[in-house]
Amino acid sequence: MKPTLLTALAATFLTSQTQVSAQAQDKFTNPILYSDFPDNDISPGPDGAFYFLSSNFHYSPGAPLLRSHDLINWEWVGHTVPRLTFGNGYDLPPPTVNDDGTVTPGERAYRGGTWASSMRYRPSDGLWYWIGCTNFWNTWVYTAPAPEGPWEQVAWLGNEECFYDNGLLVDDVPAAEGEEDTLYVVYTWSGQSVVNVTQLAADGKSIVRTETVLTPADVGVDGLEGNRLYKINGTYYILNDHPGSTAYVWKSDSPWGPYEAKALADQVPGPVPGGGVPHQGSLVEAAPGEWYFMSFTWAYPGGRLPVLAPVVWGEDGFPTLVTNTSAGGEGSWGVSYPLPLPSQPLNYTWTSNSYDFTALSELPPAFEWNHNPDESSYALSAEAGLTLSTATVTDDLYSARNTLTHRAYGEFPAATAWLNISQLADGDRAGLAVFRDRSSYIGVHKLPADGNNTESRLEVVTWFNATIDEYGGATLDLGAVTDSVEIPVDTESVWFRVGMDARADGTHLATFGYRVGVEEGGEFTALGGEYELYTGWAFFLGYRFALVNYATQALGGSVDVLRFATE
Ligand SMILES: *[C@@H]1O[C@H](CO)[C@@H](O)[C@H](O)[C@H]1NC(C)=O
Ligand SMILES: *[C@@H]1O[C@H](CO)[C@@H](O)[C@H](O)[C@H]1NC(C)=O
Ligand SMILES: *[C@@H]1O[C@H](CO)[C@@H](O)[C@H](O)[C@H]1NC(C)=O
Ligand SMILES: *[C@@H]1O[C@H](CO)[C@@H](O)[C@H](O)[C@H]1NC(C)=O
Ligand SMILES: *[C@@H]1O[C@H](CO)[C@@H](O)[C@H](O)[C@H]1NC(C)=O
Ligand SMILES: *[C@@H]1O[C@H](CO)[C@@H](O)[C@H](O)[C@H]1NC(C)=O
Ligand SMILES: *[C@@H]1O[C@H](CO)[C@@H](O)[C@H](O)[C@H]1NC(C)=O
Repeated sequence: MKPTLLTALAATFLTSQTQVSAQAQDKFTNPILYSDFPDNDISPGPDGAFYFLSSNFHYSPGAPLLRSHDLINWEWVGHTVPRLTFGNGYDLPPPTVNDDGTVTPGERAYRGGTWASSMRYRPSDGLWYWIGCTNFWNTWVYTAPAPEGPWEQVAWLGNEECFYDNGLLVDDVPAAEGEEDTLYVVYTWSGQSVVNVTQLAADGKSIVRTETVLTPADVGVDGLEGNRLYKINGTYYILNDHPGSTAYVWKSDSPWGPYEAKALADQVPGPVPGGGVPHQGSLVEAAPGEWYFMSFTWAYPGGRLPVLAPVVWGEDGFPTLVTNTSAGGEGSWGVSYPLPLPSQPLNYTWTSNSYDFTALSELPPAFEWNHNPDESSYALSAEAGLTLSTATVTDDLYSARNTLTHRAYGEFPAATAWLNISQLADGDRAGLAVFRDRSSYIGVHKLPADGNNTESRLEVVTWFNATIDEYGGATLDLGAVTDSVEIPVDTESVWFRVGMDARADGTHLATFGYRVGVEEGGEFTALGGEYELYTGWAFFLGYRFALVNYATQALGGSVDVLRFATE
């Protein structure tokens, strides 16, 4: 039996005495999290806490979940989708050799997975519901008895029925006699320009009724996304947005409409330098009558960063965003506002932490795999920490299973990894990457004997710009060694360090360093120079750190991750 997440978190506390510092006493500063947590769906739990659901695309587990008591300090709860079971590609299968000798590359699911989904607690049955459209265009329902799980897939709402960018509502006034409440979902139908509302059956597992509530004529723009459905004081509200520019609020006396609209945020300049205009997100009531709009700003290479602002309700029953009123900044999203609630700092911080893995029985939720992991190829132990065995033979980082990632945090995020490399096999590559659709790493390559060398050798290398099609397609460039230094073949362990300037208005440069030996402290030797991080939006996700370990010749090798730290 697997230990609970709480056990894992408790164990994590032991690895770090770090205390997260709360934001300033009376004010908060945007972004709320300087980290890639897009598509937030925030809702209250029965425990009085707020829950923040986000997108994870092809990372596994999917649909990350955070919790806060003050809307500012967020801690990890876990994930609502334990494994991406939406197609073969999510397991990064190896290539197949066909009868005619040709090779078909293994499927991959980059940019698929979980995105813009929704979660609500339902008081009548005490269950938590998650609903999401995953690539490729199927809609699923999961439930759990607690936000920590266990989450279980309970329904599939039909092929090609994509509840795209959906919002779930538990209406306390039931639509049918004999029921306690009713589940409604609002979504952009299969990514088209109409917005539908669907009433689900009492058990949430099938569709009872669907109506199109907003059409292109209502909208006046060519599309609406990021749908949420709320019931506030007896009135139904849809919150959604025209991609890239405008958040709208729609209200009606019935979930089926007719809806009337007002812009909540139209081309409001964002609070993060170099970042985009916030438009998608959630409405949340911090305290009775005190409402906020949590949105996010597109700020690559870092990703999509959550930003918060208060809203006030007018006589017309619509909310208005509270914007900056000072000279020069009028009408922009505030950089800071008064705290919504008394600050409740967290005891466990994932943003700056150091793991030696020896006291853990399960990986903490801040660690996420690129695609589903091969469970048999990694292990946690008191002796070796985290052991990553190679899981794929490939020369393509994007086809390698068990790349383990961790979100970057802050304007200048950095990560350090200490690897025991004594069990590498010939041809193995292991290291620490800045990872997205264009990736680079510093690591070790174990080079087999060749025509010039009678023995295997070990090199510390920088490998730059492994690139896939940013729309999730083919590998465009495997990347290449840009610098290398030979180290003794019997070297037992190496430290690696990677830093980035993740600011949208920054240099976008990443740097790489290494140090041979077992000592905790000491200087890193720079290698490879600077790598310019990619700032395109189409991959959706921003850069994160990744522990890389794959075989180019044969399986059998492994590395022990003795330490992994972010700062
Ligand atoms: C959503 O609305 C469209 C257009 O009215 C319709 O074709 C589609 O079937 C609806 N979706 C569902 C799940 O009923
Ligand atoms: C809902 O009604 C309560 C009580 O009348 C009022 O205090 C509150 O401001 C209302 N909230 C909204 C969002 O209109
Ligand atoms: C408002 O905008 C001005 C001018 O850009 C800026 O100096 C100030 O920090 C902003 N204030 C808040 C509260 O965001
Ligand atoms: C942090 O720990 C203290 C002492 O154990 C506890 O009272 C408090 O509720 C904890 N805070 C959070 C946010 O969990
Ligand atoms: C590295 O692994 C080898 C083989 O398991 C072990 O003998 C050695 O003690 C380890 N070194 C460190 C620093 O953990
Ligand atoms: C051996 O060294 C020569 C000269 O540096 C180089 O051209 C050749 O590619 C090497 N052969 C192998 C198998 O690495
Ligand atoms: C990475 O590769 C892409 C695609 O080939 C290229 O356009 C880009 O300039 C490269 N970036 C770096 C920093 O080498």
